[in-house]
Amino acid sequence: MEFNDVYDQERVTRKFTNRKVNEKLLAKIIKKAQQSPSLLNSQPWKAYVLTGEPLKCLKKDVKKQIDDGAEPHEDFARMQSLQWDAYPSQSMAVVGASQPYFFHNKMDLFKNSNDTMFNAQDVVFLTIPKASPAWSVFDLGIFSQSIMLLAVDEGLAVMPAHSMVSFPELVRKYAEIPNSEIVGMAIGLGYKDKTAEVNDPKFIPDRLPFEKIYKLVK
Ligand SMILES: Cc1cc2nc3c(=O)[nH]c(=O)nc-3n(C[C@H](O)[C@H](O)[C@H](O)COP(=O)(O)O)c2cc1C
Repeated sequence: MEFNDVYDQERVTRKFTNRKVNEKLLAKIIKKAQQSPSLLNSQPWKAYVLTGEPLKCLKKDVKKQIDDGAEPHEDFARMQSLQWDAYPSQSMAVVGASQPYFFHNKMDLFKNSNDTMFNAQDVVFLTIPKASPAWSVFDLGIFSQSIMLLAVDEGLAVMPAHSMVSFPELVRKYAEIPNSEIVGMAIGLGYKDKTAEVNDPKFIPDRLPFEKIYKLVK
């Protein structure tokens, strides 16, 4: 695919079909993403692909936590105890992910898709070592973007979501991730359910006006 087409198509998918992704294709994408740059070529990332029965069990256990009212506790949030600046907070309030759902009075679509892990049949969980500088988080972000762009180029739909790592101890259990690693992010990979209301283009969020994020000083 033309690079610009891949780039333009990289929008998130909140409901996948039941079709699984070929295991060799998943490995091919992640192998290629290893070319991503990283600080001093440290390559701090690891990728754990969960599919089939273990993924089903994880979804079931996570759903039970949510239904029981358990507090989400992602490793990153806990580590950095984020105190968001007003700038991204305002962006989230104005053009954030859930805003279009909110304005169409369809927040349940957003919530249900998250609570069921978007019906993803293949999820890649991404980790870095617990003893990591902030640079490794940056590196993991680049690695994630590489995976997503390569996946879109292969005709797949993508769904990066922190909600899938809200209960990291469960992810660790089913993906066999050692305690020495932070469960940073998760990306669902698969095929878009084009009939699902949650995927309707009217829910694609806008970006901030360019002038708000760009300054040329000369
Ligand atoms: C680090 C990260 C975490 C995200 N977590 C979630 C999430 O938990 N749930 C969700 O529905 N979307 C999540 N998203 C998707 C964003 O909401 C989405 O990329 C953004 O709203 C822009 O939409 P677009 O990518 O379709 O243009 C996440 C994206 C990133 C990069």
